[in-house]
Amino acid sequence: MRIGMVGAGAQGGTLAKQLAKAGHEVRVANRRGPQSLQEFAKQTGTIASTVEDAATHAEVIMIALPFKDIPSLPKPLFKDLPDSVTIVDVSNYYPSWRDGPIPEVEADPAESEWVERQIGRPVVKAFNSITSDSLQNLGEPVGSSDRIALPLAGDRVEDKKKVAKLINDLGFDELDIGSLSQSWRQQPGTPAYCTDLDLESLSAAVNAADRRTATEKREEQSRAIVALGPNATPLERVKVSSLYFHQPRKREKHMASFASVFPILPGKTEQWKRFCQEMVGPRRSEYEASNKRLGITRDFAALQQTPQGDVTVVYLEAQDIPRVFEGYASSQEPFDVWYREQLKDIHGVDFSQPLPGPLPEVFIDWRAR
Ligand SMILES: NC(=O)c1ccc[n+]([C@@H]2O[C@H](COP(=O)([O-])OP(=O)(O)OC[C@H]3O[C@@H](n4cnc5c(N)ncnc54)[C@H](OP(=O)(O)O)[C@@H]3O)[C@@H](O)[C@H]2O)c1
Repeated sequence: MRIGMVGAGAQGGTLAKQLAKAGHEVRVANRRGPQSLQEFAKQTGTIASTVEDAATHAEVIMIALPFKDIPSLPKPLFKDLPDSVTIVDVSNYYPSWRDGPIPEVEADPAESEWVERQIGRPVVKAFNSITSDSLQNLGEPVGSSDRIALPLAGDRVEDKKKVAKLINDLGFDELDIGSLSQSWRQQPGTPAYCTDLDLESLSAAVNAADRRTATEKREEQSRAIVALGPNATPLERVKVSSLYFHQPRKREKHMASFASVFPILPGKTEQWKRFCQEMVGPRRSEYEASNKRLGITRDFAALQQTPQGDVTVVYLEAQDIPRVFEGYASSQEPFDVWYREQLKDIHGVDFSQPLPGPLPEVFIDWRAR
């Protein structure tokens, strides 16, 4: 789908990146303009745009702004779009921490109804109840046993179908909780908010939502964020929110894996063996510290002789495989520098440069549960 992401901060940026990874065409826009998004767009395979461009090219527009900034969007822009365009409200209202009190919102339990009035178009509320951290790291293939489910609410069936598909594309089950007036059940302070529940538990959480306690709970969370001080980064805020709301997950997410074969340059096999022996011998503590820094939880290397010459078979498990390779490329830790030099000498592969092609595409990743 063609997606217009309005807001490219912690949440909009993560959504844009994950949607592009899932094969969608994503235009990203922020307040400062496309120039400020060039590097982000290059890294994520998205298109840096103006708000106007992002909106006019899109089948689905996502509004991922601080709540108080929504009225600053150009109203006519949304009003004149074709009726088929779907608008998703990703935002949340935090009056005491970020947005300041807005009397109209205080009077209406469904915050997204206020958003609809600001932009003059129907919206679907979705992606507001998962942290950027979980969004990036906890998606699972369809059918995984404890796949996280995300709620969505809205008044137009066709809009909700599109959003349900996007939720699935990002690795989550969807739960349609009804009309937009019901969307308060997925707002801050409710049991469904940022608790990473599976479909069954989410359904129970949505039903258990209590309007009377939601505001007080949201304010407790806000106090925890305020306590971080004004210089806290968005990630620190997300982390403290997560600590406040997250239920323990039943099971840790499986690690992502990477497998590949690297030919050994002629005459370098003995050097490769010494390289491995050093890592599990005298350099073991540095090797383990490096793996920890890069989030690697398993590293396997085997020597395979083939008629075409010797090759190394490598298998890695890590939370985030692209991050491992970014770390290999940029780290100035003495062990990592030595490691890169060895790989260049033995395999002729320069890990200080971005990989020449995409990471391997996984076709089968079965394991017993
Ligand atoms: N962070 C999360 O984990 C999370 C999770 C769920 C929901 N949410 C909700 O998502 C919304 C965004 O949160 P966030 O954490 O991503 O905020 P953020 O990191 O502060 O990013 C806000 C983004 O909005 C852009 N922006 C502000 N006003 C704009 C305007 N008039 N036109 C275009 N762009 C504008 C900013 O652009 P500039 O950078 O150029 O100023 C920035 O890219 C909030 O309502 C939040 O409650 C966040």
